[in-house]
Amino acid sequence: MAVRIIVGAQWGDEGKGKVVDLLSKSADFVVRYQGGANAGHTLKFDDREVVLHLIPSGIFNGDARCVIANGVVVDPKALLDEIGHVEQMGVDLSSKLSISESAHVILPYHRILDQVKEKSRGENAIGTTGRGIGPAYVSKVSRVGIRMSDLLTPGLLKEKIEHNLADINKALIHIYNEPVLDAAEMFESLKPSVERIKPFICNTARLLHDAVDNEKEILLEGAQGSLLDLDHGTYPYVTSSSPTAGGACTGSGIPPTAVTHVMGITKAYCTRVGNGPFPSELLDSTGEELRKQGMEFGATTGRPRRCGWLDLVALQYAVRLNGLNELTLTKLDVLDAFDTIKICTEYDIEGQRTDIFPLSEKKLCKVNPVYKTMEGWKGSTTRNIAKLSSLPENARKYIGYVEDFIGVPLRIISTGPKRSETIVRY
Ligand code: IMP
Repeated sequence: MAVRIIVGAQWGDEGKGKVVDLLSKSADFVVRYQGGANAGHTLKFDDREVVLHLIPSGIFNGDARCVIANGVVVDPKALLDEIGHVEQMGVDLSSKLSISESAHVILPYHRILDQVKEKSRGENAIGTTGRGIGPAYVSKVSRVGIRMSDLLTPGLLKEKIEHNLADINKALIHIYNEPVLDAAEMFESLKPSVERIKPFICNTARLLHDAVDNEKEILLEGAQGSLLDLDHGTYPYVTSSSPTAGGACTGSGIPPTAVTHVMGITKAYCTRVGNGPFPSELLDSTGEELRKQGMEFGATTGRPRRCGWLDLVALQYAVRLNGLNELTLTKLDVLDAFDTIKICTEYDIEGQRTDIFPLSEKKLCKVNPVYKTMEGWKGSTTRNIAKLSSLPENARKYIGYVEDFIGVPLRIISTGPKRSETIVRY
């Protein structure tokens, strides 16, 4: 039996989708445990490219049951579109998809609130994806959230929408100067998605408890990344859920004692979308080159991602935060063309060297990264990539340096978006 949590070890977009897709072949369950349609997990296989936002990345490889668990916030319309897209690709979801009755629903007012709140923050905007994620978690924590189980009882659903809108409309008019929303209209507009989603709604905690008891292979798929964690990330420039390993347990109902592996995914360099501190960010032509080579544009919003060198101080923090016992390094091929490659090994904060990732916004903004410079390999890592020994010598040195510094084995090295462009070291 293995219960393996897959977490982003940076600011998201590390390539978790590809890794989950690969590992799903031998899994019985693949479980999304937090976030919502703010995520964009890109999979490439059989010359096709698919971006999944809510459905777990195990849906196309093998027979695993894919579970959207209690910790996820589900936009019914976004899910409806995704279900349609996946079914068009020939996947019969009726026996493959389960959605937790306890997962919270994103309603149109959450999206609107997300957007107006961002606008009102002006230059302090977080740079959210605008998908209503923060406001949906606010409703959940305030105990006025609408859950998937509520969709099964139309009378109750209507009542809850009316009740919530009474408050929200006051805020829309008086604080944000926006038009009010109509409860009956909102209720009606939800109907088509609710009808389609209904058959998938069930008690997924029970499903997963049985799976643990029956020693099934379970993959828990994180969205976003450790440094966007609400508690442990670069607050307030974070998402509103817990992408870290701890969140996998609360977000799925699987107890910590059942977890056997925690795998972190890191790119061979760093990226970040949205605002907030990013110590190793490159605002020069090298940063642009990383963006170009890595095609670093958001899978959900299309925004250009900010790029920088690999930051081992931040990665070491993610290792300890999640208790990572294995790592995957992705997008090594993006570094193929560079003459020299830098890695951040320490921070300099007002003349003081430190290996601690600071948690205060003020301190983080003062970080000057200290770099080790390594020679590039100036050759392809995507050709002849079946094993580590076929990589160029300097690429092996780079991997060895990261592994020794971090002290966690690099089990998978990804050298391109396709399933075949992967070195697996189990
Ligand atoms: P929200 O999750 O839409 O509230 O956005 C909060 C922050 O998390 C913003 O900086 C977003 O750009 C970032 N974010 C949310 N989802 C993702 C993701 O899937 N990848 C990378 N960044 C994300």
